[in-house]
Amino acid sequence: MTAFDPIKIRSEFPALDQTVNDKPLVYLDNAATSQKPKAVLDALERYYTRDNANVHRGIHELSRRATVAYEDARIKVAQWINAPDSDELVWTRGTTEAINLITIAWGLDNVGEGDEILISTMEHHSNIIPWQLLARRKGASLRYIEMDSQGRLILDDLPSLLSERTKVVALGHVSNALGTVNPIKDIAAAAHEVGALVVVDGAQGAVHTKVDVQDLGVDCYAFSGHKMCGPTGIGALWARKDLLESMSPYQGGGEMIHFVGREESTWAKVPHKFEAGTPNIAGAIGMGAAVDFLAGVGMDAIAAHEDELLAYAIEQVGSIEGVHIYGPESLEERSAVVSFTLGDAHPHDISTILDAEGIAVRAGHHCAQLVMKHFGIAATARASFYLYNTKDDVDRLVEGLGIVRGIFG
Ligand code: ALA
Repeated sequence: MTAFDPIKIRSEFPALDQTVNDKPLVYLDNAATSQKPKAVLDALERYYTRDNANVHRGIHELSRRATVAYEDARIKVAQWINAPDSDELVWTRGTTEAINLITIAWGLDNVGEGDEILISTMEHHSNIIPWQLLARRKGASLRYIEMDSQGRLILDDLPSLLSERTKVVALGHVSNALGTVNPIKDIAAAAHEVGALVVVDGAQGAVHTKVDVQDLGVDCYAFSGHKMCGPTGIGALWARKDLLESMSPYQGGGEMIHFVGREESTWAKVPHKFEAGTPNIAGAIGMGAAVDFLAGVGMDAIAAHEDELLAYAIEQVGSIEGVHIYGPESLEERSAVVSFTLGDAHPHDISTILDAEGIAVRAGHHCAQLVMKHFGIAATARASFYLYNTKDDVDRLVEGLGIVRGIFG
C-alpha cells in the first residue's frame, strides 16, 4: 500500500478545489456530509450515461447492466461492514429511513403496552423521534442512558435500566454532536442478556472506522452513503437475516411482492421485501464506488490520519482563550469532531465569520437538542474532519477563530 498522502487524496475531490469568499475553501463540515471523490462522480455519470434502466424488471441489456451494478454495490457495502450475507443489507434513503424502517417493520409487531425502549440523551434526533412515535403508538415507554460531564454514556446505570421489559436498545455508534465513541460491543452483550434487540445508528460510525457488525454483536446497523464519500439519498440497514425474514414489510408497492391477489399478497425474499418501488439505483452504485475508494485508501490509514488531526485540532483550538471543547477528554474515546463554544460569541456568528474566511463549519444544535440541554447551552460550533483534511486546515481554523476573538473580545 502507498503511503497516506492527504494532499494527493484531496486532489481526488473536485469540490475542495475552489475559493469561497476569495479564500481557498477549508471544508470542516464532514459530520454533516462529506465531499465526493471523482471515482464516485464517475460511477454516477457512467450509470446515467450508459446503463440507465430500472432494476430487476427489464429483459434488456441496459436493465441487466443496471441490475448487476446495483446488486454488486450491495455486495460491496455488505462486505464493508462484514455482514455475513449481502441479502441482509437493505437499501434505504439513509440512516434515518433505516431506523424508521426498524421501528415500523419490527417495532409495531414486537413492542407493546408497558414495554421499554432504551436510548440515550446523546442521540441524534433520527434515533429519538422514530422511537418516540413507536412508543406513543404502542403504549411503550422510553428510557434514557444519561451522559456524564464529558459527554460519555454513564454505563454504570445500565444494569438498572435493562430488564425483561426492555425490548430494544438503540444507540449511536459515534455522537455527531460530541464525537464520543460508544462501547457498542459491551452494551450489546448486556442488552442481549435481557433479550433486547440492539439497533445501532452508525451514521458517524461506518465513516471513520472499519465496522464489523459480527464482532460488534449487534442486530441492526444503520448508516448513510453521503457521510462516507457517497451520494446523498442512499444508505443501508443491515440486520440479521432471521430478523429481516420475521419482520413485516415496511412499505408496499412494486418489487417487494411475490404474488399479488385481490385480498392477500405474499412478499419477495429479503432484502427486496423492504425495497418497494424504484430504488435509488445510481445512489447504490455510487455508495459501492465510495466503499471501493475508501478501501483503496485503507481505513486503518484514514483512522490514523484522523486521530493525528484530532489531537492537533484539540490542542490548537483548545489553547485559544475562551474556547470550551465538549466531549471526552481522552482522545481514545472520541472521533474526529471538535464541538466548541468561544466566550460569548454565538456559534452562528462564529460560523458566519469563519465562512467569510472560506472555512465551513456547522453551528447549531446538530439535531441533538438533548445533548445541548445536558450541557446547558443552545448550540455549539462544530469542526469535523475527514481523510482529505490537513494540519493546514486546522491552522486556518485557528486563524479564523482569532478573528472571532478579535470581534467578540
Ligand atoms: N447529522 C448530520 C450532522 O450532524 C446532518 O450534521
